[in-house]
Amino acid sequence: MFKVKKAVIPVAGLGTRFLPVTKTIPKEMLPIVDKPNLLYNIEEAVKAGVEDIILIQGRGKNSIEDFFDVSYELEARLVKDNKTDLLNKIIHLKDMCNIITVRQKVALGLGHAVHCAKPVVGDENFAVLLGDEIMYTDDNTPTVTKQLIDSAGANNVSTVAVMHVSMEDVQKYGIIKMEELGPNRFKVLDVVEKPNPDQAPSQYALPGRYVFSAKIFDHLENIKPSKRGEIELTDAQTLLAQKEGLEAITFAGLRYDAGDKFGYIQANIEFALRHPELQDKVKKYLSELKL
Ligand code: UTP
Repeated sequence: MFKVKKAVIPVAGLGTRFLPVTKTIPKEMLPIVDKPNLLYNIEEAVKAGVEDIILIQGRGKNSIEDFFDVSYELEARLVKDNKTDLLNKIIHLKDMCNIITVRQKVALGLGHAVHCAKPVVGDENFAVLLGDEIMYTDDNTPTVTKQLIDSAGANNVSTVAVMHVSMEDVQKYGIIKMEELGPNRFKVLDVVEKPNPDQAPSQYALPGRYVFSAKIFDHLENIKPSKRGEIELTDAQTLLAQKEGLEAITFAGLRYDAGDKFGYIQANIEFALRHPELQDKVKKYLSELKL
């Protein structure tokens, strides 16, 4: 059985694409409508059965920990004002899962960030969700993390999410070389970080959702920094694919790159168009907008 009860969410990056706001506000705390984008990921993991969330944090990210802590003054005020709906919105945050934080002292890359979780994860299987990638699934569809856990469980193998991208976009992602195993399911042979379009092994890209066995830690310990000086999660995935096996599935759902300005604005517009209090107003506003 490929049980997954822990999820690692790296949030220690510098968020340079969002400067100047990220000088003091972590990009994972930027709101999509009324929730920080990190909360969408945590809810996705919790809906998949995850109980422990391990946040890999860097300096200047303390507001993330505070967000999941008790807020006595605010709660007392909302009780006094009888604002039960608002109170429930903040109370459930501290009870939905265990939040464990680990410090990544130097931002040496995504692979290094994931390795920082080893003392907490131990020998267990675990999920990884990139803190600034948001996956939307409707209420009748399992979350993307749940889709991965189910496929990993059915086939007893580490499994990552992939999506088909244009040839022009392959240089923005880790790209897999693969053999087809069935509809939407692949055996991963190799993972190449941000290839030039003429060297890309396929057009299937990793958008930031993974389910790994703890063996990934051994591989992260054995790889050298890449040309850009980072410990790359993609290099460790290649070793995992070659030694223990790795599968990839395409997923049902919509993905937003909320670490990028345009993706962030798209996410805000589309989540507002799904929000019961806002959807009519926003739809009307957009249809009447003249610039
Ligand atoms: P990104 O490269 O998208 O994040 O890393 P970044 O470095 O913060 O972004 P820009 O390009 O400067 O705007 C993907 C994820 O991995 C985390 C980031 O926080 C992000 O969620 N990460 C990256 C770490 O936790 N540690 C690292 O050393 C690198």
